[in-house]
Amino acid sequence: MCGIIGITSNKPVSSSILHSLKKLEYRGYDSAGIATIDNGNINEVKSLGRVEVLEKNISQINLEGYIGIGHVRWATHGMPSTINAHPHSTENISVVHNGIIENSINLKNLLIKKGHKFKSETDTEVIVHLLSEYMKSNELNETIIKTLNDLEGSFALGIIFKDIPNIIVGARRGSPLAVGYGPNENYLGSDSYALKSMTNKITYLNDGEFCVIKKEEIDFFDHLGKKINKKVLQLSSNELNYEKGEYKHYMAKEIDEQPSTIKNCINEYVDKINNEINLLNFPWNKEQIKSVKLIGCGTAFHSCLMGKYWFEELTNLDVDVDIASEFRYRKNKFKEDCLYIFVSQSGETADTYAALNLCKKNKVKTCSIINVVESSIARDSDFVLPIHCGPEIGVASTKAFLGQMLVIYLLCLKISILMKDIKREDYDKKIRNLGLLSDLVKKTILDENQIQSISNTFAEAKGSMFLGRGFSYPIALEGALKLKELAYIHAEGYPAGEMKHGPLALIEDGMPVVVIAPKDDYYKKTISNMQEVIARGAKVLLLTNKDVNQIVSENIWQIIKIETTNDDLYPFLTTIPLQKLAYFTALKKGHDIDKPRNLAKSVTVE
Ligand code: F6R
Repeated sequence: MCGIIGITSNKPVSSSILHSLKKLEYRGYDSAGIATIDNGNINEVKSLGRVEVLEKNISQINLEGYIGIGHVRWATHGMPSTINAHPHSTENISVVHNGIIENSINLKNLLIKKGHKFKSETDTEVIVHLLSEYMKSNELNETIIKTLNDLEGSFALGIIFKDIPNIIVGARRGSPLAVGYGPNENYLGSDSYALKSMTNKITYLNDGEFCVIKKEEIDFFDHLGKKINKKVLQLSSNELNYEKGEYKHYMAKEIDEQPSTIKNCINEYVDKINNEINLLNFPWNKEQIKSVKLIGCGTAFHSCLMGKYWFEELTNLDVDVDIASEFRYRKNKFKEDCLYIFVSQSGETADTYAALNLCKKNKVKTCSIINVVESSIARDSDFVLPIHCGPEIGVASTKAFLGQMLVIYLLCLKISILMKDIKREDYDKKIRNLGLLSDLVKKTILDENQIQSISNTFAEAKGSMFLGRGFSYPIALEGALKLKELAYIHAEGYPAGEMKHGPLALIEDGMPVVVIAPKDDYYKKTISNMQEVIARGAKVLLLTNKDVNQIVSENIWQIIKIETTNDDLYPFLTTIPLQKLAYFTALKKGHDIDKPRNLAKSVTVE
C-alpha cells in the first residue's frame, strides 16, 4: 500500500510530483522518492521519512526533467531506508511499485546468475532488472508483457526509460492505478485523489492492462498487448476540493463532518415524501435472498458486525459476518441465495477485493458498500451502495464508519419491509427517526470538554478495555481500535458478558475501562458487568444516554451522557465520544493523528 505518481509534461515536473506525493502520503509515509529524465539521464532522489524531507533534499539540487515518477512507501520487503525507498533504477530504467512480488526471491536468484547486481532488500528491484534483461532483445510492449508474465503477486507500476524519454508505462494487477488527462501533460497515479489538483478526467486500468503515457496521448493495452479503448470519467467538483481548512487534522474535520455526511446519505436513499428507502435498481427480489453475509476488514468489519445485529433484529434472514482476510482462504460453502455484502471505505482493500473476486468466481450475488465509487471493489460488484461521505483522508476511519453503518441499516430496513419481516408502521417510524439522526450526531459532537479531560487519564494508561453488549459490542471493538491505532495504547474491545471468562484477570487498580450502556434492552446486564470491573479497581467511564437519571453506582469514575434515541440508532451516537477520546488522547501524546505509525489508509497488500 504505497502511493505512485507519474507525470509527463511540457514543463518541469518535480514540484507537481512532490505535490501529488503529499496527497498520496495517506497510503504510506516511511520514505519517498522521485526519478526524472533530464539530459538523457535518469536522476533519482530518495529520502527516509516524509515527503517534506524529500522536498528539502530536492530544493538543494534543483531536480530538472519534463517526465518523472514518484513514490511514497509503506514498507513490506526491507525496512524503511533510503536504499529501499522507490524508485528502483538501473542505468536505463526506473520503476515505482505498489504491491508485493511474491516470487521475488526466485527471480532475484535467476537475475543474479545472469550478472545483475542488486542494491536494496525490496521485492520491487527485481522488476527493474527483469525489464532491463528483456529490453536487451525485445521491443517495448514485448518487454512489458514478458516482465509482467514473470511476476507473481500484485502490482501497480510506473516505469520510465532513459532510451524512450517521452513515455511512462503504467501496469496493473491487483493494486489500483488511475490515469489522468491534462493540457499538454498526462498523469499516472495510485488513485484519482493524487491527480485531482491537476485534472478531473480520469481512466482506471483494469487488472492485467497496461498503458503507455505520452504528454499528448495515452495508449491502453490488454494483457496480450492488444490495443484497447477506455472510457474517460469526469470527477465531480466536490470530490476535487477536499482540504483541511482551519482544522489541525483531517480526523478532526472528518469527525465534525458526520452530521452532514449522515444527512447527505439519508437524502440520497430516503424518499421523504413517500417515507420510503430507495435503493435504485436493487437487482434481486425477495425470493432470491435467504441469507446475507457481510465481509470487511478493520473498522469496516466492525460495521459488518453491527449489520449482523440489525439484520437479526429486523429480518428473518440468516446473517453471517466475516473478516475478509479469513474468508478468502477458508473452504467456504457458497450459496446461491445468499447476498454477499462487501464493506470498504477505499474500495481497494486487497483482502476485501480478493474475497469479492472469490465470490464472483463462485457466481454468487455481490453487493458493495463503499465510499470511493470509482474503486475496484465498486467496479467489480454486481450492485453498489455508496456511502456518500466524500473523501476520508485521516488514516483512522471516522465518517466512513458512520456512513457504512447507515447504509447497512438502510439496506437492512429495506430488505425487512420487502420480506414483510417488519410492520409498515414500525418501518415508517424508523425512517422518521432517521430524519433526526443528523441533529443527534451534531449535538453529541459538540459535547467535548469532558472527553478532553478524560483523555489525560487515558494518555497515561498502559492499557484499557471497552465493553458493550448487543448493539454496543461492535462499538466497543471500534472504540478500542481507534485508541490502539491513534494513541498506541493497548485496548481490548470485549462483549461485557465475556469478562468473567478470562479478561477480568487483566483489570487492575486504576485501569480505565469504557462501558457502553445506553438504555436499551441490554442496559441492565451491562451495568451488572460494569459493577464487576469496578469491584476489581477499574476506573469506569460509562457511556449512557441522557434519560438515565438514576445513578447506578457511586463508584463510577466518569459518566458521559449522549442524546436519547431509539435503540437501533445508539451505535451512531456512542461512536462519537470514542472517536474523540482516541483523538484527544493521541493529541496529548503528541502523535501524528492523520498518519499513525506503521499504518496506511488504503491497504492494497495482503
Ligand atoms: C481503522 C481503519 C481500518 C480500515 C481497514 C479497511 O481506523 O481505517 O481498519 O477500516 O483497513 O479499509 P477499507 O474500509 O478501505 O476497506
